[in-house]
Amino acid sequence: MKKLIIANWKNNLSFKDCLALAKNYAKVFRASSGAVVACPSAWALVSVKKILGAGVKLGAQDVGHQERGAHTGEIDAKSLAELGCSYVIIGHSERRAQGESSAQINLKLKAILKEPKLIPVICVGESWSQYQAKKSKAFVTEQIKQTLAGLSLGGRQIIIAYEPIWAIGTGKAMPASEAQIMHQFIKVEAKKVLGAKARLMVLYGGSVNGANAKTYLAEPDIDGLLVGGSSLKIQEFKKIANIR
Ligand code: PGA
Repeated sequence: MKKLIIANWKNNLSFKDCLALAKNYAKVFRASSGAVVACPSAWALVSVKKILGAGVKLGAQDVGHQERGAHTGEIDAKSLAELGCSYVIIGHSERRAQGESSAQINLKLKAILKEPKLIPVICVGESWSQYQAKKSKAFVTEQIKQTLAGLSLGGRQIIIAYEPIWAIGTGKAMPASEAQIMHQFIKVEAKKVLGAKARLMVLYGGSVNGANAKTYLAEPDIDGLLVGGSSLKIQEFKKIANIR
């Protein structure tokens, strides 16, 4: 299986800078590059899609759980699919920090799975205090149980991104050997909910850069990376994505 590299641009860029970065992605990752995904802000999806070549897939950073209708300000899963998205990130810790619950993320996940072309990327991860108290496994297990409750995957692919909150945007990445142990654990726990045959990938995220990416990608249960800050710098991101 080819390891998947997802770039989460967050809401960091101006429209002009988004387009410039998309042009660089298109130049660097041509059709043969394989599994690279760019997730710009929702307001840039249409424009970025036009620029990205066949070598880069498009992803969204969030979705509303309701279907198309009278829901002011929402973005529905069907529209994301129509715009050409292949992936949708949900439950990012930056959104959970604003009050998004696992129950809401579960509804978003179900909305995504109604669209055959969309693959969900569900973020989980513990805080620094939970990590220090050695409660990471218990906390992440609870997030998995709540976000994946009541799903019927029917052969659909599902991705979990393990992102220790304390490692996001801090430069304090989790050592790859430790991340490997968590990934193996997450696969076991997720398959208890989804069934042994579930098509599951688990990605690592949190201060990935051009220097440490290869340590993660060498681990057997780390199926790829979710990259924030380093995905905004084309040379850095090129290093990360070309290691596979
Ligand atoms: P980071 O962000 O790579 O800047 O730590 C990762 C993420 O939030 O997905």
